[in-house]
Amino acid sequence: KVVVPSVHELIKEKITEIPNPYIRTSCFDHEDHHTNQSTADHNIPVIDVQGLLSGESVLADSEFEKLHSACQDWGFFQVVNHGIGSLLIENLKSEMRNLFELPVEERKKICQEPGDQMAEGFGQLFVVSDDQKRDWSDTFYLTALPTKLRKPQLFAGMPVLLRESLETYSSGLKNLTMILLGKMAKALKMDSDEIEELFNDCLQRMGLNYYPPCPKSEQVIGLSPHSDAGSLSIVLQLNETEGLQIRKDGKWVTVKPIPGALIVNIGDMLEILSNGAYPSIEHRVVVNPTMERFSIATFHSTNPDAEIGPAHSLIDPPHKPALFRRETLKKYYQNFFAHKLNGKTTNLDFMRIQN
Ligand code: SIN
Ligand code: FE2
Repeated sequence: KVVVPSVHELIKEKITEIPNPYIRTSCFDHEDHHTNQSTADHNIPVIDVQGLLSGESVLADSEFEKLHSACQDWGFFQVVNHGIGSLLIENLKSEMRNLFELPVEERKKICQEPGDQMAEGFGQLFVVSDDQKRDWSDTFYLTALPTKLRKPQLFAGMPVLLRESLETYSSGLKNLTMILLGKMAKALKMDSDEIEELFNDCLQRMGLNYYPPCPKSEQVIGLSPHSDAGSLSIVLQLNETEGLQIRKDGKWVTVKPIPGALIVNIGDMLEILSNGAYPSIEHRVVVNPTMERFSIATFHSTNPDAEIGPAHSLIDPPHKPALFRRETLKKYYQNFFAHKLNGKTTNLDFMRIQN
């Protein structure tokens, strides 16, 4: 594993030419990612969580239907009235900035260490050699839950206000995740105990992302195309700079930031758990020529010692055969970290039962 320099430091040098490792061609395959491909009917669904929870009401039913079809047809949706307070979001915004402005000396203390499988702290994932292509972003990864898997030195080295906000945010998102997974299980007619048992002590990881502006933004990519390895990912866009795009019917569609909303997406693990009913979706981040972008992506996997595979309650051979095999979470992630981010393939191929 190679620890890469920060893009933030790079742009301070007022560069006019983009260093070679950042120049990409393959991510853009013949299309101009700055043409606005999202149209009116290409807004991703928006779900009202309070509505979803409003008992036996017409609103609850319609939000529930919307959730199910968003998961089947989009793999991506935004949520509003999600219970994460606007003050907390405001605090995260300013504290994130402080994190990425930390003096180099402070930053060094909380950098990813070569050889660390979970790659926590500042750095980029998946960079294993100096000549490999790099993404135009600075990231900071950490394990938030279960608390016993936290890295004490990482939490100690973080700005204290950020740490406190992340603490509140982490438990808020765990709640939201359990609510959404519960509703999804119901929509899929899964045994809800199965979800509870798999996720009650779930692994929650966070990626804090800073995408500096790039004077030649069409030559770089903020985050390479990929699908998420976990079950549900929840992304908070901390400002209104667009950047996240999802692949829908072969085209890239920009996710329009809605102030205060959270973006939820289905990861590979949920595609496996739902036995293919809820597909994970490929996405990427493009960079703006003049505006910076901040986001926090929170990934929820099963309990660390769980075995993942299609939900038992959804499998009934020969009519409903399992499309994926079963594997420990540990082996699943070993496979994930052994490959580069390169579209939606490796994890699911590793798990798919070939006929
Ligand atoms: C991610 O896909 O992990 C990050 C997405 C984003 O920055 O919006
Ligand atoms: Fe992602």
